[in-house]
Amino acid sequence: MHKQLAISLDTPFKQEVYEGLTSYPKFLSSKYIYDEAGDKLFQNIMDMPEYYLTNTEYDILEQNKTDLAQIFGCGKKPFHLIEMGAGDGKKTKILLRHFTEQNLEFIFRPIDISQNALNQLQNNLKTEIPQLRTEPLQGTYFETLQKLNLSTDERKIILFLGSNIGNLCHEEAVEFLSQIQEYMQPEDLLFIGFDQKKNPETILNAYNDETGITAKFNKNLLVRINKELDANFNVDEFKHWEVYDPETGTAKSYLVAKSPQEVFLQALDLHVSFKAWETIHTEISQKYDDNTVQWLAEQSNLTIVDEFCDQKKYYKNYLLKKS
Ligand code: AVI
Repeated sequence: MHKQLAISLDTPFKQEVYEGLTSYPKFLSSKYIYDEAGDKLFQNIMDMPEYYLTNTEYDILEQNKTDLAQIFGCGKKPFHLIEMGAGDGKKTKILLRHFTEQNLEFIFRPIDISQNALNQLQNNLKTEIPQLRTEPLQGTYFETLQKLNLSTDERKIILFLGSNIGNLCHEEAVEFLSQIQEYMQPEDLLFIGFDQKKNPETILNAYNDETGITAKFNKNLLVRINKELDANFNVDEFKHWEVYDPETGTAKSYLVAKSPQEVFLQALDLHVSFKAWETIHTEISQKYDDNTVQWLAEQSNLTIVDEFCDQKKYYKNYLLKKS
């Protein structure tokens, strides 16, 4: 038997790393950046002045919280406010505080794969907004949306913030939105953030900061593979590289080998060779315009009912319903 068939690729992480590093050109999925260290680095990114996305969406929520209370509350009908990938809830707290002050009848239902992240968020909300009813849901987005759909007749308002959709290519985004749409009833709403096309320089700066935080974030993929798959990547011999195509709106992150290298991943019994300047594609961060969002919505059987934008038109939150 070939030696490599003897090892078991018994987790999606192992399977995807194996596939990505034995392909040409090589690739790795950005979702694996987010272990504990990756989560912290992403927090640092969100605090960087260059990473305009977070503050811009924060401002949009702050400026439109009164309208959103009316739309979501729809004549003070009870609803479930579901957030996919809530993180530390910094932006969502604007809405949670305001809705609570307005006595809207709602339950906040953050969804996350990590029970630890949910516990932290719940504890924090207990202190900051004690009147708020929070019922977290642990699991993948779709497992939990399905459970919710079966267990409640109340209206669902689904939040998907941070332009997280941009880490999917268009085909994956249509698949993702179509699935959400299947769990929606006609009166449910999806409130979703899409980072917009803009001066390419602004976008490149957001993903290529001088302090090197984004580089460290990108390289965390290799750090994690070293740790969890007993590998020996020399992380310093890889360079973070960002490109942005203003025509397609796609920002792409790479790790580029600065010299020829041999890497061994013990848990996969896999040897990987890199030529000098060979690439690993690690992430896409898609930027959008109205035509593209309209197209994505149509493809996913959704209709845009409203949109909210900042003054510079850097970022938009769209409100969608089932078509
Ligand atoms: C989580 N996601 C929307 C971020 C983005 O903008 O693509 C991740 C990120 N990558 C580099 N900087 C931030």
